[in-house]
Amino acid sequence: MNFLVTGGAGFIGSAVCRHLCANPAYRVTNLDKLTYAGNLASLRPIENVHNYRFAQADICDERAVLDILRRDDIDIVMNLAAESHVDRSIDGPGAFIETNIVGTYKMLNAALEYWRGLPDDRKARFRFHHVSTDEVFGDLPFDGGMFVEETPYAPSSPYSASKAASDHLVRAWHETYGLPVVLSNCSNNYGPYHFPEKLIPLVILNALDERPLPVYGAGANVRDWLFVEDHARALELVATKGHPGESYNVGGNSERTNLAVVETICDLLDTRRPRAGGRRYRELISFVTDRPGHDRRYAIDASKISRELGWTPKENFDSGLARTVDWFLDNKWWWGPIREQRYAGERLGEARKVGA
Ligand code: NAD
Ligand code: DAU
Repeated sequence: MNFLVTGGAGFIGSAVCRHLCANPAYRVTNLDKLTYAGNLASLRPIENVHNYRFAQADICDERAVLDILRRDDIDIVMNLAAESHVDRSIDGPGAFIETNIVGTYKMLNAALEYWRGLPDDRKARFRFHHVSTDEVFGDLPFDGGMFVEETPYAPSSPYSASKAASDHLVRAWHETYGLPVVLSNCSNNYGPYHFPEKLIPLVILNALDERPLPVYGAGANVRDWLFVEDHARALELVATKGHPGESYNVGGNSERTNLAVVETICDLLDTRRPRAGGRRYRELISFVTDRPGHDRRYAIDASKISRELGWTPKENFDSGLARTVDWFLDNKWWWGPIREQRYAGERLGEARKVGA
């Protein structure tokens, strides 16, 4: 089985590549543009294995995508390439429209042309798996409710609106042209190789640098956290066993307020890397202006993927967060160059000025 993983140099895509390559029956091509968020160092564990190869390309380049689909005899496309950070989408929505919407459209066009040229048996098993987010559903009240696959779309940010648009395109290519697509909508991931613009890695690294730990608003917003390796297993199942035209919600059943997440990280660091003078990491917590359009709460009902595909997460939030903190303590070779050269942790997304 030959996979094309787009965005495979990113946080989740690299976890998917590492996971798939452990199966010798799979061959994996990672197609990535290598934006600020793409990092080939995240593929170091598999860069020399026989069933992995990398191609630097833009998903907006339909010809390049089609060439790779044909060259590598692809059976399954897993489309993860995207601009993924809500705060950056507030400062500059243009790249989100380009990659997330236009890029998905180009991927669909290339996939359709390729799929139409396949012999019937390969046509039948081909899948276009579009990896999406729970943010397309908008937000939930603090006191109840969960996202199910039928929840109407109501995105709040330029990021989530661009992902919602891409999901609609994927469904349209199924309904109109018969392309065998599957979709998944997942909650917040965390784990090793997480780019330190997102809450959990940002807080870990700021704490190690003795810098303020920025909590938006009162820290009361709730996210449903999933360890990235559990997501990678779910994605393999959706791509290989999901029914064409269907979507699957994926979540960790681990709702936490942002403040609780930050405090837990502080407490883990207190035991693993105590500060000088007996001070606590919690003293670094700093409440800052809220994110514009900040969704209150996300919560995923993952019963469909559990019932139909037999998936459940292996990691709970406490064990997964401890593994994550330990990984960042042990892997400065990975995050040191990012903090020095790509993103040093400054505040993003205050909507003072909207760029391209
Ligand atoms: P990421 O930002 O870490 O990685 C994105 C990758 O896509 C990078 O390697 C980047 O170089 C690549 N890329 C960007 N534009 C490209 C283009 N035009 N052509 C080719 N490659 C391009 O993102 P992530 O957190 O790993 O998210 C991956 C996918 O999963 C996204 O589609 C995102 O919407 C979705 N998702 C993420 C989460 C989460 O919590 N991180 C949760 C649910 C869904
Ligand atoms: O729900 C899935 C989504 O999760 C994915 O689709 C996105 O790609 C991914 O980035 C993530 O989006 P969030 O906006 O929820 O993640 P982020 O880590 O940016 O923020 C998590 C919460 O923490 C959110 O409520 C905002 C808050 N926050 C974030 C940062 C960066 C802070 O309080 N302080 C911060 O410095």
